[in-house]
Amino acid sequence: MNKNLLSRKAACNSHGQDSSYFLGWQEYEQNPYDPISNPDGIIQMGLAENQLSFDLIESWLESHPDPAGFKRDGAHIFRELALFQDYHGLPAFKKALANYMGYLRGNKVRFEPNNLVLTAGATPANETLIFCLADPGEAFLLPTPYYPGFDRDLKWRTGVEIVPIHCSSSNGFQITKTALEEAYQRAKKCNLRVKGVFITNPSNPLGTTTTRPELDTLIDFVLAKDIHLISDEIYSGTTFDSPGFISVAEAMIGRDNVSHRVHIVYSLSKDLGLPGFRVAAIYSGNDDVVAAATKMSSFGLISSQTQYLLSVLLSDKDFTIKYTEENKKRLKERHGQLVDGLRDAGVSCLKSNAGLYCWVDMRHLLKSKTFEEEMKLWKRIVREVGLNISPGSSCHCIEPGWFRVCFANMSIDTLDVALRRLKTFIDSGLSSHDSGRRVRRPSLAKWVLRLSSWDRKSER
Ligand SMILES: Cc1ncc(COP(=O)(O)O)c(C=O)c1O
Repeated sequence: MNKNLLSRKAACNSHGQDSSYFLGWQEYEQNPYDPISNPDGIIQMGLAENQLSFDLIESWLESHPDPAGFKRDGAHIFRELALFQDYHGLPAFKKALANYMGYLRGNKVRFEPNNLVLTAGATPANETLIFCLADPGEAFLLPTPYYPGFDRDLKWRTGVEIVPIHCSSSNGFQITKTALEEAYQRAKKCNLRVKGVFITNPSNPLGTTTTRPELDTLIDFVLAKDIHLISDEIYSGTTFDSPGFISVAEAMIGRDNVSHRVHIVYSLSKDLGLPGFRVAAIYSGNDDVVAAATKMSSFGLISSQTQYLLSVLLSDKDFTIKYTEENKKRLKERHGQLVDGLRDAGVSCLKSNAGLYCWVDMRHLLKSKTFEEEMKLWKRIVREVGLNISPGSSCHCIEPGWFRVCFANMSIDTLDVALRRLKTFIDSGLSSHDSGRRVRRPSLAKWVLRLSSWDRKSER
């Protein structure tokens, strides 16, 4: 197609969607595993989706038919919902969401519903915040490894740059003052004005919670540099083990000159497993940010029937407490099954306590410690073992050989199949013939072609 027909923004490549993270999804979609109809297909382990506790929500819906049926106390409210379109959001929903966010933080902090801005997912919440806080050509510092979608969400349409804060396995990928300062100086050398630091707590892809000393370091840093701090807390309700989750909202209590520069993103995509409902919010103590973000939220509002349904569900405290506790229990169990299975195959993970994935150390399987070797191993794992996992390089990790492996988007039987395939592959000395799965040769040529053209692009 003639690219000149498009705008520069639409035609440019800064959306980051040609990363191996998204390429792996495409491969999965062409040959998805099914235990009966396609047992040799690719198992999707590159998608941070939570399917472990749907039964709990489904049984709540069965016992509460009104909210999903456009009814309140048995009376129809279809017209009310059909007409409701105020971009400030349904007050009952904002109140219920603010209370739920407080509950997930041990009720140590209170969220004021008027400081919430509703958005259709964390994706637009993050982009909206960047639009509000930075101009094109300015920068945000992000600790690596980070969620590959941020290259699209934070940079593409805003024109804002991401400068990585390099974290390493030597301290479990924790954020240090030195790493922050080094990233800040690197940005300055490139003539980039730094407007803030952006963290994900709990981390995607690490599955770890940000420690109190790290949060204190971050707050000290943004104060010293007079910049913002965004904390994407989309995984806050997935913390299944100690140490517990500490929100930046808790860490800033008692600190002066901070509340107007700290902004939190929350979403129901992970904790409640509802990415299809598109429900999230920005929470900011900065009234100007709240006002601007509310206007921008017009571009991606949450539908009124979704707000209504979830206002009833989240106001049912007995349910939310039971759901959250049971969901954490299931995540912990599933996480343990993945860690044990990997250990059986001689593979270890970064110790983690949250999230829907593990950060898996396969450095010993690389022929040499390079990203070329990481990419070779990744291609073999997708192509020959039939597992779509995400290479660390797609998360901008600086050490080759780490992979993110998701565990909550499949049945336990499928996880077993995946672990057996991987063990067979590793036990055979990475020999392609014995990985316990018939490789689908016909699609291979196309696949290798696509990946090598991607390789060439990424080398440019
Ligand atoms: C850290 C992080 N932020 C934001 C998102 C996007 O979430 P949503 O589906 O709410 O747009 C994801 C999704 O994987 C994520 O992992």
